[in-house]
Amino acid sequence: MRVLGIETSCDETGAAVVCDDGTVLSDVVHTQIALHAPFGGVVPELASRDHLRNVEPVIRSALEQSGLGLADLDGIAVTCRPGLSGALLVGIQVAQAMAWGASKPLVGVDHLVGHLLAAFLRFTPDAPPPPGLPFVALLASGGHTALYRVDGLSLEQTHELGATRDDAAGEAFDKVAKLLGLGYPGGPIIDRLAAEGDPNAIELARPMPNKSSLEFSFSGLKTDVMRWVSRNGRPGNDQSLRDLCASFQKRVVDALVSKAVHAARQEQVHTIVLAGGVAANRELRARLTAAGEKHSLRVVVPSLRACTDNAAMIAYAGLLRLARGEQDGPILEMSPRTALLRVTRKGKGRR
Ligand code: KG4
Ligand code: ZN
Repeated sequence: MRVLGIETSCDETGAAVVCDDGTVLSDVVHTQIALHAPFGGVVPELASRDHLRNVEPVIRSALEQSGLGLADLDGIAVTCRPGLSGALLVGIQVAQAMAWGASKPLVGVDHLVGHLLAAFLRFTPDAPPPPGLPFVALLASGGHTALYRVDGLSLEQTHELGATRDDAAGEAFDKVAKLLGLGYPGGPIIDRLAAEGDPNAIELARPMPNKSSLEFSFSGLKTDVMRWVSRNGRPGNDQSLRDLCASFQKRVVDALVSKAVHAARQEQVHTIVLAGGVAANRELRARLTAAGEKHSLRVVVPSLRACTDNAAMIAYAGLLRLARGEQDGPILEMSPRTALLRVTRKGKGRR
């Protein structure tokens, strides 16, 4: 099977063609980072307009690069939730029109399920073997941070074990970077600065130190960075900035790694899969890999390309739905929320 995926849920316009063995035939991403950077975060109205401008050329070049025409495809998959409503609608409208015009089946994909299945993508022939089932997934992105138990490659077989009660991990990186005047998105900038800093230089609050809970909370840590800045002043481009970034990043990574390992042990699962934009963080990748070795767990760390937003993961998740005989009607429902059942309520904790 070969499926075209379309992704417009946030600030990346993506299109990709993927085969049923996970081979990525093409993967085109147009990022809006420069557009939103002056505002320190994504501006929904600007995002929708930019998707409108770019969605057609992005799809065209994904098809061209794959060497396939619309007629060669087995279906079209599009992100239909969660995300910015106006942004999602752009991808959905185009996907509906293409599916109707070419008489191809159409499937909607939950963006989070796409992230969770990104470890199955083969961007290059030497990609590591895909994870075996069941596995525990640590999904950490700009909008979501949660641990899941994945027993099968469908929404119904994916269960949230715990999530963040407030900010997502990527959101914490972005907000701290904004506070320090570093630019947007904050994750890659803090990652780079932290590499030259001392992670033990500044004692910051530990996010949700209760090891037995699989929930996260990053807003207290963010506030603690804010307090440090109001006491000491905003650091210039000096060693104290690098130390602050390293100390903040250490706290985030400590929480993510220790809870992911705890989840695997609790669930008696031997594989942990890393997913989402924050999975691009070098310290997280290294520390989770080391923790896996220590606890005899297989840690699957997908390529950077597979971690951040892309349409290949959407194409693959849609392909699996089509392979199961599932298909959506000509009009797709859209929602700003995920379809995965949430056990952690924002601001409140477990149900
Ligand atoms: O998955 P993603 O591309 O988009 C969402 O679905 O949110 O994740 C984007 C998030 C941003 O918050 C960004 O700052 C963060 O991932 N990020 C990183 C790194 N690269 C991207 N966070 C920490 N370290 C990185 N190297
Ligand atoms: Zn994402």
